[in-house]
Amino acid sequence: MNRLTTSWGAFELARFPEDPRDTLRAWDAADEYLLRHLHGIDDAAPVPLTGTVAVVGDRWGALVTSLAGHHPVVQITDSYLGQQATRANLARAGTDSGAVRLLSARDTPPERVDVLLVRVPKSLALLEDQLHRLAPAVHADTVVVGTGMVSEIHTSTLKLFERIIGPTRTSLAAKKARLIFCTPDPDLPRVPSPWPLRYDLPADTGALAGRTVTNHAGIFCAERLDIGTRFFLRHLPTGHGAEHVVDLGCGNGVVGTAAALAAPQALVTFTDESFSAVASAEATFHANVPAGKAEFVVGDGLSALGDGSADLVLNNPPFHSHRATTDTAARRMFADARRVLRPGGELWVVGNRHLGYHVRLRRLFGNCDVVASDPKFVVLRAVKRR
Ligand SMILES: C[S@@+](CC[C@H](N)C(=O)[O-])C[C@H]1O[C@@H](n2cnc3c(N)ncnc32)[C@H](O)[C@@H]1O
Repeated sequence: MNRLTTSWGAFELARFPEDPRDTLRAWDAADEYLLRHLHGIDDAAPVPLTGTVAVVGDRWGALVTSLAGHHPVVQITDSYLGQQATRANLARAGTDSGAVRLLSARDTPPERVDVLLVRVPKSLALLEDQLHRLAPAVHADTVVVGTGMVSEIHTSTLKLFERIIGPTRTSLAAKKARLIFCTPDPDLPRVPSPWPLRYDLPADTGALAGRTVTNHAGIFCAERLDIGTRFFLRHLPTGHGAEHVVDLGCGNGVVGTAAALAAPQALVTFTDESFSAVASAEATFHANVPAGKAEFVVGDGLSALGDGSADLVLNNPPFHSHRATTDTAARRMFADARRVLRPGGELWVVGNRHLGYHVRLRRLFGNCDVVASDPKFVVLRAVKRR
C-alpha cells in the first residue's frame, strides 16, 4: 500500500490482488502528471470537471479515486484485476458507492462524455477500439486529455487520436511522462471500429484447423495465433473422458474450444481476467461448437470455482503483468488449479522452456512430466494425487 498525494487529497492505493511483498505502486508519473494538469499546473487554469467525466484505461483506479468527488465519474477498463483494485481503493478512500460507475471495455459506453481522460494502454488496438466506441459520446466542447509514459506514446498513438477524435498535440515531458491534448472535431467522418478481428486457424492445429477465431481488441495475440498456443493445440490431451475442463486464462478461447471438440460430453469453463478475452472466447466457442456445454467467467484465476470440481485444467500462463515481468500470476494459477482439481485430475501447461515451470509444478504437485517439447516450448502435465 502506498499514499498518493494529490490536490484533492491523499489516497492509500494498492494493486489487486494485494500482496504485502509487492513493492510496485498503484500509479505512476503519467497519472500524477494528468492529475496536476487537471488541477492547474504553475498558475494554469484548472480543467473544469463538469458533466460526465469518463476515465479510460485507469490501471488500478488511482485516477478515479482521486477524481471521485466530481460526480459523475465513469471508469472504463478491460481488466477485472484493475476493477477490483479500483473498488478497494475507492472503499479505502471512503467514497460513496455510486460516485464512480465501473464499466468494462465491453459495456455500452456513456451516451455523452464532457471530460474524456485516457491513460494510454499498452495495446494500441485497445486504444483504437475504445476511441471508436467513445467517439459518438464526444461533442465539440468535450475536454480530451490523454496521458502516458514517454515510452508508451508513439506517433501511431497520436495518429489514432487525430483520426478518430480530432487535432492532437502533446505536452513537454515531465518525469518521463507526457500528456496528449486533443480537440474534438465533430465533422470527422465516423468510421466503424475494425474490431473484433476474426482469423482462420492454420492447418497444424488439429480439430481447429481452418476454423475461425474471434478476437476483441487488446486481448493476447489478437491478430495471430501465439506460437506457444499453436504448439499446445498440437499436444492437447485426447480421449480423457473429462466431465469438466477449465481453460484458465482463456484469451480468445482456442484451447478450450479444441478441448470441447475433443470431448463433446464435457462442460468447458472459460475464464480470464480480461473482459474482452472472455467475450472473445464466448464468440469463438459458439461459432465452432454450437451444441457444446460451456460457461464463461471473468475473474481472478479460478477464484469462482469450487475445490475438487474440475477434471482437467489447461493453461498457457501470462508472464507479463502490466509492465512488470513476473511469474507471480503463473504461480497463483498453478496453486488455484491444484485446488480446483479433483484427486486424479490433471493440469496441462504450455510455456517457454526458460521459464522453468516444471520446477514449480513438481514442488506443488509432487510430480510433473514433459508431454512434448521443441527447442522453444514445453507442454507439461501435473497430476493431483490427493
Ligand atoms: C498467455 S495468455 C494465453 C491466452 C490463451 N489461452 C492462448 O493460449 O492464446 C494468458 C492469459 O491469462 C490472462 N490472465 C492474466 N492474469 C490473469 C488472472 N489473474 N486471472 C485470470 N486470467 C488472467 C490474460 O488476460 C491472458 O488472456
